[in-house]
Amino acid sequence: MNTVVKDGTSVKESQGILANIGGTTLSVLVEGAFLFKGVNMLKLELPEVETQRMIIRSIRLSDAQDLYEIASDPRVNKYLLYPMHKSLDETKEIIRKVFLTRVEQGVPSAYVLVDKKKNKMIGTCDFVSIHYHDVAEIGYSLNYDYWNNGLMSEAIKKVIEIGFDHVGIRIIQIKHSINNHASQRVIEKAGFQYEGTQRKLLYDKTINDYADCKIYSLLKEEWRERNERFSDQI
Ligand SMILES: CC(C)(COP(=O)(O)OP(=O)(O)OC[C@H]1O[C@@H](n2cnc3c(N)ncnc32)[C@H](O)[C@@H]1OP(=O)(O)O)[C@@H](O)C(=O)NCCC(=O)NCCS
Repeated sequence: MNTVVKDGTSVKESQGILANIGGTTLSVLVEGAFLFKGVNMLKLELPEVETQRMIIRSIRLSDAQDLYEIASDPRVNKYLLYPMHKSLDETKEIIRKVFLTRVEQGVPSAYVLVDKKKNKMIGTCDFVSIHYHDVAEIGYSLNYDYWNNGLMSEAIKKVIEIGFDHVGIRIIQIKHSINNHASQRVIEKAGFQYEGTQRKLLYDKTINDYADCKIYSLLKEEWRERNERFSDQI
């Protein structure tokens, strides 16, 4: 049973659908997320959470040095769309203007990954854009010294959970150049479904040309169903 909220008054609604009574559209509270005219009202401020090896929290200006280490490393940057950062000052400016303004731009706050042992910021894994009100695109990057230890697979699982359960996202999308095999594995292991390939979509610095990109998505209901099936088995 859902709660229908109209002008601050709560009444019970037996149908799990958006109610439209007498021409007035009502907001319906479903599982903690507000629906308005069938559209989720997203919670863009993200909580600090943790996994076995990492703290995942919103970015701070004090992360500049660690972010600069990642964003100025050609081994990492060659897989990313944005240009390499050229100085620590440039990274600080980007944190201030791009990352710390996410919420006011209608995008969830920028999440970073902190290595618990070293208390060092070692990567990003966050929702970079929102389309159609509640469809989010996720992206990530990791400090080169930490690659191939399962860290991004560990982080993305938690970020997906936050996206669906806290933010109120309905579909998470992701894409990678066909040449980015590590990213493809992270996506596959996280349970995304392959949707198709867009031809020559993005510039790929590893081949100095436009590359075909594989597109994937994860629906909230399939993610939930999979989790329920998994928890039934243990
Ligand atoms: C993509 C990235 C975040 C992966 O992080 P990570 O913590 O190393 O990822 P994981 O260890 O969780 O998983 C990596 C998987 O890719 C596999 N892999 C790594 N390099 C590979 C390669 N060249 N070819 C095929 N598989 C590869 C690993 O074996 C592992 O798969 P497995 O668990 O089945 O063995 C990291 O490589 C990175 O920061 N790349 C640059 C930025 C980037 O590409 N961002 C995404 C843009 S779409």
